[in-house]
Amino acid sequence: MTDSMNNENKEIDQQQEANGAIHKKLAERKTVHIEPVIDRHYQLRETSKAKEIIQKAMDLAREEIPKGAVATYIPELGKMDPHQLGICLYPLKGDKICLGDYETRFTMQSVSKVIMLIVALEVCGLKSVFRKVGMEPSGEAFDSLVELDVNDSKPYNPLINSGALAVCGLLLPEVSFQDMLRYTRNVCSDQGIELNEAVFDSEMKTCSRNRSIAYLLQSKGIITTDVEDTLRFYTKMCSMDVTAESLANLGKKLANDGVCVEDGKRYMSSRTARIVKTLMLTCGMYDGSGSFAIKVGIPTKSGVGGGLLSVSDKRAGIGVFGPALDAQGNSIAGCKLLREISNELRLNLFYDPEWNKEDAGDTVLREMQANSVL
Ligand code: DON
Repeated sequence: MTDSMNNENKEIDQQQEANGAIHKKLAERKTVHIEPVIDRHYQLRETSKAKEIIQKAMDLAREEIPKGAVATYIPELGKMDPHQLGICLYPLKGDKICLGDYETRFTMQSVSKVIMLIVALEVCGLKSVFRKVGMEPSGEAFDSLVELDVNDSKPYNPLINSGALAVCGLLLPEVSFQDMLRYTRNVCSDQGIELNEAVFDSEMKTCSRNRSIAYLLQSKGIITTDVEDTLRFYTKMCSMDVTAESLANLGKKLANDGVCVEDGKRYMSSRTARIVKTLMLTCGMYDGSGSFAIKVGIPTKSGVGGGLLSVSDKRAGIGVFGPALDAQGNSIAGCKLLREISNELRLNLFYDPEWNKEDAGDTVLREMQANSVL
């Protein structure tokens, strides 16, 4: 064996050890090269033009900020400056476009439910996960517990608090928080991600609603791990400090079938990537998921820290940060920003340049808006 092969093997060993159970599963996966198919979306290839469009969208989105408010039910989040707004759009081909507060750290909050789900699907398997949680939109608030008061019911889906807590109950015997942190750093291509202790402590002191959900889940046999440990694990996941740029990196891997465009490494199976994106589209914005799918049409997951992770499939990963929230707990300016970008750059999942030739700038949406349907 040559020295360079030796070094390479050593590096792989170290990495595997570092990532523990998660990496063991992923090590079986092959490195593949996927050719991105974004060429027909010419707007993304013209970086300067796309940047101009996004800048205009940012200006429009800022006007929404006074209509929202930062989350205060986790006291530490109440200290955030509501006027911040940042975006990173990272096409599969071409340069990333970063504007505003894209480097500012904020806690991942519910965006981390995507990571919990990815790892649970990889490590515990599809059957175990969907034995504990459903795959239907809830039409309820993110911290709702109504469904849990019905006999034989389980959380509607893994992207609401009850579902994510159930997923954490599955993860806890398999992986440590340190494993999860390492995986998050790798999948977000951001080694600077840390646990925000202040936000974690603040939420642990005020999480009686999540605590109630977790005990209800235990009473139904959905959580069999220690409830307090499970709650701590979940809250730590929510308290990881990311940036809009790190979310764009995660989105880019999801957009590319779970594979890193740069080095061809697979971070999750193709099936996991598909399931996660589908649930982001149908459930990622809670009781606002349906209207968001119509208005924006990009699978997205929000968090009360102001983050939005969007996956424009086969085209780009998008990370947004805007801590002023709407009534559903989604970034108010971030949603407007994504809506404008989706319209202007034709990123709607169902937009096709061949089929929608006459659709100059989303006439359906404009018409619905004019008639107050949206
Ligand atoms: O469990 C909670 O309430 C928070 N740690 C996360 C909620 C959240 O981010 C909802 N998202 N928009």
